[in-house]
Amino acid sequence: MAKARIAVLISGRGSNMAALVYAAKQPDCPFEIILVAANDPDAAGLAFAAAENIPTFAQSHKGMKRAEFDAILDTEIRKAKADYVVLAGYMRLLSPEFVGKWEGRMLNIHPSLLPKYKGLDTHERALEAGDVVAGCSVHLVTAELDDGPVLAQTEVAVMAGDTPDSLAARVLIAEHQTYSRALAAYVTRELDPAWMLEQVRQRAMALPGVEERTSHGSPGFSIIGSKFFALFSQYHHGSERIALLVKTSGPEEQSMLIEQDDDLYYLPPYYGPSGWIGIRLDLGQTDWEHIAGWLQKSWLICAPAKLGKSFDIAADF
Ligand code: GRF
Repeated sequence: MAKARIAVLISGRGSNMAALVYAAKQPDCPFEIILVAANDPDAAGLAFAAAENIPTFAQSHKGMKRAEFDAILDTEIRKAKADYVVLAGYMRLLSPEFVGKWEGRMLNIHPSLLPKYKGLDTHERALEAGDVVAGCSVHLVTAELDDGPVLAQTEVAVMAGDTPDSLAARVLIAEHQTYSRALAAYVTRELDPAWMLEQVRQRAMALPGVEERTSHGSPGFSIIGSKFFALFSQYHHGSERIALLVKTSGPEEQSMLIEQDDDLYYLPPYYGPSGWIGIRLDLGQTDWEHIAGWLQKSWLICAPAKLGKSFDIAADF
């Protein structure tokens, strides 16, 4: 699978960005840093990135409207063909337009154990509260500040005599470990069979009158009391492929699909003769709308006429 392309946004020192750059040098790292952008042309991290031959972009946001500045950033990030945006000490609130465009594909690191201490002065606040553990969190960015779903956290023990600075220095070590791991796990989540099954499940169960049950050990979805219309196939009959099996109208359609795209579609051993087609889910770029469409089509092929009609009505609404 191609490495995920990461644009990192910084405002200053950039030590988390540096940790990501070094992590990406490991041959098996699933991401690469393809752009470092800053809203301050003097950000120290820019020189580091340039020394590492990473393309940089810097422009001061001063005197510009937030949305206007963010649109420039967005253009640069897209020009660099980034798949994800990673905030690493980016000290500027992002506009809702920008956040919306990168929803689910933008991560941040925050120096506290969220949901505790959103915003600034996290270490000071942890010490004032008498906390015995502090730490850091990696989370997805949503419209609310430091509020998105947490992907990973590392706890850091508070030591006697800690000051905000001494605590920050230790939390930073934890940040450098946590960010690259959380990012690697996130960009490869689509290769996790459990994640794939969950995507199929959500779409299959959204159809009317559907239940989940197993078929020869594979998770499957059937119309209640009737036929299976979808099967989740993982290492089935020794196959390495992870795929969704759905019903076609018959051999003609099966051949047509395989002719169309023989990477994506295949004839599942033992199931082929009864009209099933395999659609690979493990190629790293699954189009989930397309999968939802197939589930619906297969459901319609398998549904008793009466139920099928009710679905047409439901679909009209
Ligand atoms: C880090 O503590 C990070 O958690 C916070 O800002 C700081 C940035 O440090 N968001 P650096 O620029 O990565 O060295």
